[in-house]
Amino acid sequence: MVYLRRKVEFCASHRLFNAALSDEENAAIYGRCANPSGHGHNYTLEVTVRGKMDPRTAMVIDLKKLKEIIVEEIIERVDHKNLNTDVDFLRGVIPTSENLVVSFWRILEKRLKGICELYEVRLWETENNVVFYRGEEEEVVRHGAR
Ligand code: NI
Repeated sequence: MVYLRRKVEFCASHRLFNAALSDEENAAIYGRCANPSGHGHNYTLEVTVRGKMDPRTAMVIDLKKLKEIIVEEIIERVDHKNLNTDVDFLRGVIPTSENLVVSFWRILEKRLKGICELYEVRLWETENNVVFYRGEEEEVVRHGAR
């Protein structure tokens, strides 16, 4: 089994808050990330797939093809967007990095079915903060959860 990883960058803004909580509760939980006007990040998304090499091409998947899928399914929908309001698949979802990787996983796993196996979705929010998901049991957390 061989693993391949493709890296893609995007910029987006968000505000972290749970609509079910008071302003004070949100400020206590999320700090400055709950500021009403929001803030932006330069995100780096790394998608890792794995599979057996095609005996004819010696490739698991053409990395150019993998990049096209990531761009089409994720980047075009989130780049230069407000993650709280502009992205259909994030409606009602609190846009933490945790929720983003789980949401991205759902989309990419479906799209890659029959091509190769999705192994990991890794999202760098800053140089120091990285969150990754490998498809183990988890659900997105939506506004309204308390
Ligand atoms: Ni943030």
